[in-house]
Parts: sequence; C-alpha cells; structure tokens
Amino acid sequence: MPAKKLIAANWKMNGSRALIETVSQQLTTLNSEVDVLICPPATLLAYFPVSGHYSLGAQDISEHAEGAYTGELSGGLIKEAGASFVLAGHSERRQYHAESDQLICAKIQQAVTAGLTPVLCIGETLAERQQENTEQVIAKQLAAVYASHPELLAKSVIAYEPVWAIGTGESASPEQAQETHAFIRRQLAEYDSKAAVNVRILYGGSVNAANCQALFTQADIDGALVGGASLKPAEFMQICQSAKD
Ligand code: PGA
Repeated sequence: MPAKKLIAANWKMNGSRALIETVSQQLTTLNSEVDVLICPPATLLAYFPVSGHYSLGAQDISEHAEGAYTGELSGGLIKEAGASFVLAGHSERRQYHAESDQLICAKIQQAVTAGLTPVLCIGETLAERQQENTEQVIAKQLAAVYASHPELLAKSVIAYEPVWAIGTGESASPEQAQETHAFIRRQLAEYDSKAAVNVRILYGGSVNAANCQALFTQADIDGALVGGASLKPAEFMQICQSAKD
C-alpha cells in the first residue's frame, strides 16, 4: 500500500494569479499527512510560491525533447517552470486532441527522462462501460505504456477517471471505483509486481467534499484527481483533509 494519499488538482483551462494566492495560503495550514499536487495552466506555474506543502504539475507535455514544435512544452521547460509532475493522457486530450495510446506512451517517456513524475490518466467511456468493456479498455491503455516499458511504472502515478464521471456530477460509486482500481493493480502487477504494490492509483471524476471520504476508505484508492472542486479553495481543502488517515 502506498504510504500517503495524493490529492491532485486539475485546474484545466481555469485559474488566475488570485486563485494561486488563496490556494497556496490555505495549503500552508495542511500538515504532511497528505501529498498535494496542483496542476494549473502552464502559464501560471511560475507564479506559485515555492512551498513544501504542495507540488506542481503541468497538464500536458510534448512527446519531443526540444525543437521546432510551435506551441508545445517540453519536459525540460515544464521542470524549469517549477513542476515536478505532469498529467498524460487526460480524457479531454484523448478526445479533443485525438491523442493515441502510442503518443501518450511517448509523452510518459519524455516526462520520466526530464525527471518529472507522469500521472497517466485512463478510463472508459459510458458506451464502453455499457458494453461491459471497461476492463478491456483499461488493460489496453495500460499495456500501451507498460508492456514495452515496465520500468516506467515505478516512476508513475495512475489516475482512473471514468469518462462518464468527469465534470458530470456523477461520480463512480466507491465500490465501482474500488473494483476497477483493484483490477488496475492486478494488471500492473503483470509488468512489475513490486511497483504495482506501491504505485498510487488516484480516482478522478466528480470528486467533491461530500463523496471523497467514502472513496478514500477503499483499499486501492490512493487519492484523487479533482477537477471542478479544486477551483473552490475551501472545498479542495476539505478534500485534502479527508485524505489524511
Ligand atoms: P471533475 O474533473 O472533478 O470536474 O469531474 C476531473 C478531471 O477531469 O480530472
């Protein structure tokens, strides 16, 4: 079991310097029983005060190390801006930017090469769940990265985010989430059994102050990736507090 829970905020294309001020101040009241990660838009990264109370992450990374790729951000640039994590394969990138499993694998490699911890986001759509294909979809998304590069697993965080639960207000039930998290851990054990025990598997999809506690009591839920609720400082703090155990 991973030692501490990780609560990650995905601000998506939201936030401001004013929000940074409020959130960073509030987080100084948290003790070290929970790890907190904030993933703001990359342009805001450098405005965060350096703090031992949270880590910073970008929301995406280029699959290239440098060069003529207008608009892209390399792992080195992200690191220099103050981040130590990066999301990869968020469903909004898979859906709106047609990111393939192969591309996401290349991004994870770039992240690890740059010394960033990648947070690999996986999850099924509503149609895939209704067709009872959840496990198949997830197994494929994991295999695309770890079958050929099992050494990346020990350096990764996984975020299970059922697409139907993202931004919909309809979270997976704690039991539903636990069942899939346990499946993910079993799958990962095929690539690196030792790393699979310790890798943090976050749940994401309409996590809020009201439903987080029940999710966090599940054996294989090691934290959360929080979208909408992470933009509300008081609620985000409550979620972080609930993860202390
Ligand atoms: P949500 O987003 O909490 O607003 O559902 C989660 C995510 O997309 O990471």
